[in-house]
Amino acid sequence: MPRKKLIRYSENQEDSLILQPGKLEFESYKNNRSAFFGNDNPITLELACGKGEYTVGLAPIFSKRNFIGIDRKGNRLRFGAQEAKEKWLKNIWFIRTIIHHLDQFFAEKSVEEIWIIHPDPRPKWADERRRLTNPRFLTMYQKILQPGGLLRLKTDDADLFQYSVQMLNEQWRTIVAQTTDLYNSPLLDDHHGITTHYETLFHQRGRTINYLKALPPHIAF
Ligand SMILES: C[S@@+](CC[C@H](N)C(=O)[O-])C[C@H]1O[C@@H](n2cnc3c(N)ncnc32)[C@H](O)[C@@H]1O
Repeated sequence: MPRKKLIRYSENQEDSLILQPGKLEFESYKNNRSAFFGNDNPITLELACGKGEYTVGLAPIFSKRNFIGIDRKGNRLRFGAQEAKEKWLKNIWFIRTIIHHLDQFFAEKSVEEIWIIHPDPRPKWADERRRLTNPRFLTMYQKILQPGGLLRLKTDDADLFQYSVQMLNEQWRTIVAQTTDLYNSPLLDDHHGITTHYETLFHQRGRTINYLKALPPHIAF
């Protein structure tokens, strides 16, 4: 492992709010969820969370819910973990993993809500399977979401948004609401005034923000 990466890895090992490979709790999380939060309150996931702005932003608003930010990059998660500690937030965890492994952490119907905020657009056709709204990911989200649990997507990328709408219409058929211009939409309240690092960058470049929320069909797995 390169030296810088090694240092970050060991810093994350010390961080009480980040679960990552190599920590004992990382392996035991799935069957021991309430031990982490000390309660069984509903769980919201922020996928590809980067610095975890939604996790840190929503946690104080909804103190009776638990929030988990997930990203594969440990150095980004550390920003969120640091902020959570400074704000004394107790309903937050971060998991450093790839989203492909989500169902190893979350049992069927154990998640109340999933946010995907400005995921990498993966425009190349060869990368289609890596888009976080690809059907294989939708199947996984469908499995771990509770009945009535929403998937929310925000993206500045019009092509990824169009692709996601198409995949959701084919696979789930229930997009509850959508807009290609969130800031000028009645759905604006849904974003709780939280803008992430990438959202700020892209909005400054003149891009509008696309947003949708969708419900998976109830299927017994
Ligand atoms: C464009 S950034 C967006 C970060 C943040 N949501 C924001 O809006 O500022 C995409 C993030 O997704 C993470 N990511 C991409 N693919 C992933 C995967 N398969 N599993 C976990 N994280 C992933 C990257 O590490 C990166 O932090």
